[in-house]
Amino acid sequence: MTSGGSFFITTPIYYPSDVPHIGHGYTTVAVDALARWHRQSGDDTWMLTGTDEHGQKMMRAAAANGVSPQEWVDKLVAEEWSPLLETLDVANDDFIRTTQERHETRAQKFWQSIYDRGYIYAGEYEALYCVGCEEFKPDAEIVEGTGAFEGLMVCAIHSKPLELLHEKNYFFKLSEFSDQLIELYRSQPDFVRPESAKNEVIAFVQQGLKDLSISRSAFDWGIPIPWDSSHVLYVWIDALLNYVTGVGYGSDEEDFQRRWPGYHVVGKDILRFHAVIWPAMLMAAGLDVPRGVFAHGWLLVGGEKMSKSKATGIAPTTLVDTFGSDAFRFYFLSAIAFGQDGSFSWEDMAARYHAELANGFGNLASRSIAMTAKYFDGSVPEPAEYTDADREIQKLVADAAANADAAIERFRIDQAISEVWTIVDALNGYITETEPWVLAKDDAQRDRLATVIYTCLEGLRALAVLLSPIMPESTAKLWSALGGAGEVAKQPVREAGAWGQLAPGTQTSKLAPLFPRIEED
Ligand code: MSP
Repeated sequence: MTSGGSFFITTPIYYPSDVPHIGHGYTTVAVDALARWHRQSGDDTWMLTGTDEHGQKMMRAAAANGVSPQEWVDKLVAEEWSPLLETLDVANDDFIRTTQERHETRAQKFWQSIYDRGYIYAGEYEALYCVGCEEFKPDAEIVEGTGAFEGLMVCAIHSKPLELLHEKNYFFKLSEFSDQLIELYRSQPDFVRPESAKNEVIAFVQQGLKDLSISRSAFDWGIPIPWDSSHVLYVWIDALLNYVTGVGYGSDEEDFQRRWPGYHVVGKDILRFHAVIWPAMLMAAGLDVPRGVFAHGWLLVGGEKMSKSKATGIAPTTLVDTFGSDAFRFYFLSAIAFGQDGSFSWEDMAARYHAELANGFGNLASRSIAMTAKYFDGSVPEPAEYTDADREIQKLVADAAANADAAIERFRIDQAISEVWTIVDALNGYITETEPWVLAKDDAQRDRLATVIYTCLEGLRALAVLLSPIMPESTAKLWSALGGAGEVAKQPVREAGAWGQLAPGTQTSKLAPLFPRIEED
């Protein structure tokens, strides 16, 4: 891919009704890694994240805590959701809150335009609503309750009773968009990824779409409907709009043209909103649909989706305090195939931390830098003649870099990391085979030693650049120890595989262990 194109990517906006758990952290670091990769490739990159602050769930959380909804979201965003981004070392370009003026006025403008185009009508509605999902549930997701909820209909995701709502609502003519949506999935085969998610969406649309209730009148915590202020916008159709209100829709045309359309990464639980309702809303408004929607899997605990409401949520800080933010990012992005579910366990995380980060990457960096200090006074040696073994490393680095970039294009962060990891494994094997400590004892092997150490350092240079989007903190330390000029996060990632960028004579410096061993109690 050539550099310089626009790359706009979003996380879902999170409900700040409660504190974040590692499932939210997972989505956020995945999007951040993709954004960092593109930014580092010279693409005109923009990463947007934020919070979804209206709706009944928020009202109830606030009431349960004896404060107003606005006070509640202000507190949770300031104390929990903004700090999460720092905890996880996320380099988002913007943070949108749906209670911000910029969002509210632009969202109203959007719905007014859909109203003006004739896609809205008023009607009566009675259906079962899940406050956890903030959604009228389709029949397929309504199940009979068990235990305390025996005899009640419950949500298949939240296992909590559904509420029967009867209201006068405004409706969006979603049903008119089935054919256009099917045509979209056909003509843009990458619109929904992975393949399994796409098939699910197509099957859902093929069943026929019902019109969507877009307003609520039983409470007022939301954005007033522009043509009837006795209703507020249904929280989902307010929230989805953040993806365009956050980049200038309706007031900064230049910004909007520059960024939109973008990519959305979402958990599979909210795929339909993004791959069906959202593109239909955009079609109705006469705007471009997203470039694509990628649905990732769930972090599971005991085989079920981790969730705060089921008391299975683990706070990201619990892991970051022990392992560090880089290890958090590395673990979730490498251990789970992006698009599939994955189970988290502390033991698995600790085992991978020690095997792959401490003993694999960290040790490679420490010993290469230490040998440079010991044998060459810390100065990057000039390589002499390359042997086949050296050339194999060079080819492997070039291939890994190209394959990793291709994997990122497919949104397969896990595959990109495993490509890059072939360099870590190959260099560790190379050191074992070339035995630089033996070469160092023989003056006649001085040139060979220089080539071997250069190969290690140059391989590490490529690793620092390629892993910077995944592990910004440790790669910055490594880059500085290698004597790299400027910031590692600014080194062109698509050129990382070209051999020979580290200049002989560069002064390296001491490197503290990147991933210290963790003594478990
Ligand atoms: N507010 C809506 C999204 C609106 S986007 C226009 C919402 N918020 S949420 O806070 O409940 O969840 C947001 C996202 O968090 C999910 O889509 C998913 O990406 C992530 N996850 C929440 N729990 C998760 C797991 N257990 N595992 C992986 N990701 C999870 O839905």
